[in-house]
Amino acid sequence: MNFQFGVDYYPEHWPEDRWETDARLMAEMGLKVVRLAEFAWNKLEPAQGRFDFAWLDRAIGTLAARGLKAVLGTPSASPPAWLIAAHPEILPVDSEGRTRGFGGRHHDCQSNPTYRSHVARIVTALADHYGRDTRVVGWQTDNELGNSHDDLCHCRHCKKSFQDWLEKRHGDIGTLNRNWGTVFWSQTYDSFSQVPTPMLTLTAHSPSLLLDWKRFHSDLIVNFQQVQIDLLRARTHGQFITHNFMGFHDLIDYYNLAAPLDFVSHDQYPVGFWENPPYRSPAVLASALDLMASLKEKAFWIMEQQAGPTGWQILARTPRPGQLVLWAAQSIAHGADTVVFFRWRSCTVGTEQFWHGILPHNGVPGRRYDELKGFVGAMAPLMPRFEGALSGAEVAVVHSYEQNWAFEIQPHHPELDYVKSAQDVHAAFHDRNIPAAFVSDRADLSAYKLVVAPLVFLDLPGVSERLKAFVNAGGHLVLTARTGVKSQSNVCLTENALPGPYGELLGIDILDYDCLRGVTVPVAVGGETGQGRFWWDVVTLRGAKALAAGGTGDHEGEPAATSHQFGRGQATYWATLPDEVLMGALIDRAVADARVSSLGASDAGVELVRRRAAEGDFLFALNHSAETRTHVPGPGWRAVAGGATLPPYGYNVFFRPKEVSGVIE
Ligand code: GLA
Ligand code: GLA
Repeated sequence: MNFQFGVDYYPEHWPEDRWETDARLMAEMGLKVVRLAEFAWNKLEPAQGRFDFAWLDRAIGTLAARGLKAVLGTPSASPPAWLIAAHPEILPVDSEGRTRGFGGRHHDCQSNPTYRSHVARIVTALADHYGRDTRVVGWQTDNELGNSHDDLCHCRHCKKSFQDWLEKRHGDIGTLNRNWGTVFWSQTYDSFSQVPTPMLTLTAHSPSLLLDWKRFHSDLIVNFQQVQIDLLRARTHGQFITHNFMGFHDLIDYYNLAAPLDFVSHDQYPVGFWENPPYRSPAVLASALDLMASLKEKAFWIMEQQAGPTGWQILARTPRPGQLVLWAAQSIAHGADTVVFFRWRSCTVGTEQFWHGILPHNGVPGRRYDELKGFVGAMAPLMPRFEGALSGAEVAVVHSYEQNWAFEIQPHHPELDYVKSAQDVHAAFHDRNIPAAFVSDRADLSAYKLVVAPLVFLDLPGVSERLKAFVNAGGHLVLTARTGVKSQSNVCLTENALPGPYGELLGIDILDYDCLRGVTVPVAVGGETGQGRFWWDVVTLRGAKALAAGGTGDHEGEPAATSHQFGRGQATYWATLPDEVLMGALIDRAVADARVSSLGASDAGVELVRRRAAEGDFLFALNHSAETRTHVPGPGWRAVAGGATLPPYGYNVFFRPKEVSGVIE
């Protein structure tokens, strides 16, 4: 169920006599869908049990009269003041034992049974009222689950839920003690009721406790959503359920959060005022979109696409003319079937007064409206042709939430970051215009020629077997330093030398290592010299051959990268974490060995992205630079939007029928 373009709208922020003007302007712009009500709990239920849906009925009616369908958000992210006043125990408790106050949003504990019962009441009432309304096409659960909940919650309900979760995972307290190694520092527990949540302590908690806490927290939020999904599924008819994800947000295992949804949605803000610099590179933007496509291996929606300058207390720069369109085109190029812009009109009240919408504060259409209207007119007719299509990537980068959590707990090197490492690998493919998917470590890898799995630190059930089977069947696998180090309980493995269960596959042993604090190791490969960073494994070859070695310095002559034939495939090891130059040279080598193809060369700042549809391939050329560029994709391609010239921040789309591409027989 796709609508190409839509907008996030808050009719409750504006006088009702303005709604018709808004609906008309939306329709004139070519929008087809509107997300509503995800923070409107107090307007929908001004006092406990007293529901008022009349205003929302009228808003939905005004929009429907202009051909606009509605997506309703469940309002659980903004529990009203009357609810908190009646039940202050709903407020969350942080790791320093402080109760966080009412205000802002997300001021709730997601395990609290009272809060959950009130959420169930409002969701049930909404679903009963709108579940068969054909003007409502779907639902968004909550809003950006995990947002603002990072350090929360340590209340007595969360503690009890954590203890119950541990009992389910470990069985009995003796097993937990063994799994975690609580003999260390006299932390042995007699019963689950003694196990703490990781409150502020004098020194660091056990890494095993911390990893299970992060798993618990993820499962808690997945369960919080599931309760809402169950209520909605039982009461709705022909309406989808989705949720708006936040790219590489780390609190929840997004593969689990995505599983029960019909499709995922994502909030794409290329310029976030809170970041320094407040700007994300095209490669980083692409990585978030490709992660979204990977969560269900399915096309997705953008539920919030940046539509103006961003800001709360401070602001980021105003997107240059063309940039809002370019970023929306990038979202579509990477697999978005519907793009909903955030928000319709810049709000005059509240925390987000400077998080601008399509319309300025005064509501008069201006530059942003005109630019986006032009884009919708050009792109919407094309979109059904590649609906559902993804890139057809031959390359995958493994992204595992549990591995990331383990590195958040013990980063090793202060600059080593799991997500950044995965994004760096993805960026190397992106720079070469090679489509690269992300995959979970539980995914079927058989569709890929080349898989890079950075930092497979924990030996999680089934993963080494899956990776070995992939190579055995002819796949090319790249593993990196800090692989095969720990068990799933986050304790060090002892059965084999490092890299633990991967030694035989890789044909190496690692008997020593060096955390590269304050140094890098030069490595020459493919005519270039890059640097190994953060970590260096001292590799002993046991059947593998060295692809490159450390240059002058402490690790001179030691293998920096190795390659090993295993079954019908090839397993490569990077004994360090490469900088951009070294990464590029190693990726070039892997791409050549695995015979992976690129979408072609492009001018500086021009990103090439493919959607492989049934009728043929659509190629997007996206000019992220402020200069005019050109892109001519070669024989068989014809332009379906734009032409060879790419103005600053411009985009063009080309099409090649499948008989010509010869890829789909
Ligand atoms: C101190 C403590 C030891 C150990 C080491 C290493 O010396 O006395 O128990 O913690 O530091 O951290
Ligand atoms: C997120 C939220 C929105 C809004 C925007 C801008 O994406 O989902 O409700 O707060 O950020 O801050």
